[in-house]
This record gives sequence, C-alpha cells and structure tokens, in this order.
Amino acid sequence: MRVAMIGTGYVGLVSGACFADFGHVVTCVDKDASKIDRLHQNIMPIYEPGLDDLVEKNVKEERLFFTTDAKEAIADADAVFIAVGTPSRRGDGHADLSYVYAAAEEIAELMTGFTVVVTKSTVPVGTGDEVEEIIRKKRPDADFAVVSNPEFLREGAAIKDFKIPDRVVVGTEDERAKEIMEELYRPLFLNQTPIVFTARRTSELIKYAANAFLAVKITFINEMADLCEAVGANVQEVSRGIGLDGRIGKKFLNAGPGYGGSCFPKDTLALTKTANDHNSPVRIVDTVVEVNASRKKAMAGKIIKAMGGDVSGKTIGVLGLAFKQNTDDMRDAPSLDIIPALVEAGAKIKAYDPEAMEEAKHLLDGIDYAENAYGAVDGADAMVILTEWDQFRALDLERIKASLNGDVVVDLRNIYSPDDMAKRGFTYTSIGRPV
Ligand code: UGA
Repeated sequence: MRVAMIGTGYVGLVSGACFADFGHVVTCVDKDASKIDRLHQNIMPIYEPGLDDLVEKNVKEERLFFTTDAKEAIADADAVFIAVGTPSRRGDGHADLSYVYAAAEEIAELMTGFTVVVTKSTVPVGTGDEVEEIIRKKRPDADFAVVSNPEFLREGAAIKDFKIPDRVVVGTEDERAKEIMEELYRPLFLNQTPIVFTARRTSELIKYAANAFLAVKITFINEMADLCEAVGANVQEVSRGIGLDGRIGKKFLNAGPGYGGSCFPKDTLALTKTANDHNSPVRIVDTVVEVNASRKKAMAGKIIKAMGGDVSGKTIGVLGLAFKQNTDDMRDAPSLDIIPALVEAGAKIKAYDPEAMEEAKHLLDGIDYAENAYGAVDGADAMVILTEWDQFRALDLERIKASLNGDVVVDLRNIYSPDDMAKRGFTYTSIGRPV
C-alpha cells in the first residue's frame, strides 16, 4: 500500500515509520522545510525511544520518505492520513481544527483515483463529516472515503503501542475503505489484534472517551491518595487491592502530582465542550478537569510544607521536568505549575531532566540546571522528584544524603519506599503513603 502522512509531529512520524516497517511505502509530508531537512539527516524533532533507528532503517530500505511537496505523495496514495495538531483553541478549549481543514483542502486538490482519507489527529465528533464536505465541495468528482482511525499511542512507548496495540479502531461504513484499512493493518490481524470497525462518529468519540476515562481513573486514585494521607492508609496498596479486580484493572492507578501532557488535559477539555454544546454534559469529566488543575497547583504547597513551611532563600534540587518519563515533552507538565510557585515563594531551583531541559528553558524562568541528578541535589536543602525517570529510581542514596544540606526528600511519583527512606535517615514525603 502507498501511504501519505500529512504532518510529521509525534503521531504522524511514529505512525509513518511503523507503517513503513510493516512493509508499506510511506511518504511523510510537512510544510516545515527545516524539519524535513533534519529528518533527511535522521535528526528527530522529538525524543521517542527507538524512533531514530526505525526511521533510519526504513529510509535506507526505501519505504519511508520525507518531503515538503504534498503533490506526488497524495496523488500516488491509497490512503492519506491527516496527522496534524489539534491544539486547544485559545479562550474556549475547543480543539482547533484549522490544520485539519487545511489538510483536507490540500488533499482534495491533489488526490487521484479512489483515496481513503484517514483522520488520525484527535478530532471532535462530526469532524469526519466536515472533512468529507470540504473535499466534496472542492472536488465534486472525486472518488474517496473519509475514515476515522484514532491513535492510542503513549509518548515514550509509542512504537510498542503502535505495533502491539490493545486494539485498532476504524470508523467507516464504506466497504472499499474498510478493505484498504484491513490491508494497512494486516500485520496486526496476523497477531490477532482486535480491530474494531464502527461508524465514523462512534470512532471519533471512542478516542475522547478512552482518554477521559483514563484521566478519571488517575484523578480518582489521586483523590484516594489524599484520603489515604488523611486516614493513615497506603494508596499503593489500595491501587493493588482494587486493581486486581479484573473489572477495575491495574493500569493507570499510580497516584502522582496530577496528569499532564499533550493529550489528557486538551482532550478532557474538548470533550466537555462537545458535551455542553450538545446539551449532554459529562459532569464527571468536568470535575476531573477541575480537580486535576487544582491538584497540580497544590503540589507546591506540599513541598513547602515538607520543607518546614518556608522555602524563602532555600535551594531545591528538582529531578524531572517532563510530564512523564521517556519524553522531552513539557506540555501541561506538573513542573510548570510547581516550579513557578516555588520560585514565587522565594526558593532557588536547580533542576535536572535527562531529555526535557532544552524545552524547559523556553518555559521556565529564573531557574538553574544541573548536568545530572547529583549535580541538582548537591548543596540543596531538599530533593524533589517530579518525574519517574528510570535513572532516578536507583540513585546512590548515600551520595545524595552526603550532598544534601539536610535530609528532606519529596517524591511525587512514589518511586522510593517510605520505610527504606526513613531507615536511611531521610525525612521523606510521598503521595498517599504513611511514613
Ligand atoms: C495518552 C494515552 O495514554 C494514549 O493512549 C493516547 O494515545 C495519548 O494520550 C494521546 O491521546 O495521544 P500520553 O499523554 O503519552 O498518552 O501519556 P500517559 O502515559 O497516558 O500519561 C498521561 C499523564 O497521566 C502523565 O502526566 C502521567 O504521569 C499521568 N499518569 C499516568 C498518572 O499520574 N498515573 C498513572 O497511573 C498513569
């Protein structure tokens, strides 16, 4: 199959590289010439484990191409994927669909023969209908079908999520489109991956419902963590105790500083807007949005309390800035709420993140950066863990103890054991676990 991927962001690039690795011929198109230039030199625009190797291999084997010129890519394609950004529109939180619509216009102009136009970008219910209308209006003669095929990739684990997914969702009622989608995902059929064929609007909603449900699950356990702190219970054991119930499931029950990233905050908000627009409010999701935002803000207070109530003039060694491990993505990261609040309270921040520091420099003012975890903590009055990077899980605690000024450790990801930390002489605070 020949595939054109419009957009070489995180979703387009990972999906394009994985489809190429399945054996399809994929051309990734982006208007940003410098991005395409860098991709030709195998320089990735994002940090995603394994992506550079996958891209290099498939470029070498001539299944993966990058271009700024959409013309040939679209004209030749059996399927054209729209994988452009749908950021929150300023002011009302609706998904901004201008890039999706622009892609639809361009596809309409350039496609030849029967073409499946696939929206992979996360788009509100009904966007497929609009894309179809745009194309139909511009090219009344065109032979095409618009399909919804949402992505469920997690940053940091995206290649595995693409190649070994829990399921693939395809929204179309067009038989020819179905056949092409089946062919594209054939390697997964062979692995017996469930492929959910459904109507387009249902498929669009599945994406939002999945992300919102996961955000609800995280927010639920975060509130349980607060309750655990109030009543002297342990949230990790509560998670295990409920997660072993197959109806609840173990995943996404890690309490933390609140969810962030490029998806949950944006998608929960967009879902509440859609629901309100259709007079069918999703009050649970409304509440989750609110609870999560206030949780991220409250985390600075938790750190200040752990440091005795006053951080003025004190230095805090911060480990981790990205919204989660294995990514350099800082979008809606809890660190963006926590660090400015600590600076405002008079603290000096020395931070280290294995991948996100370059990005952080654009977003956080007035903080210092260290070259590694030990450098961040050296001489600091407290060590604060904000992101659960593997390399922070097995720190040399003797060395940390010796280089800290004092003994305060605040672990907002629960990666250390309270008992062990107490035994080692730390004053240790975590989320929802008694010391
Ligand atoms: C999320 C979904 O997991 C993907 O399935 C989806 O495709 C993607 O959004 C998207 O819509 O593109 P992602 O944002 O990469 O993926 O990251 P997650 O691993 O889901 O984590 C999101 C946030 O929840 C992070 O801030 C993370 O720290 C937090 N989280 C996650 C918790 O606090 N506790 C958990 O148990 C799990």
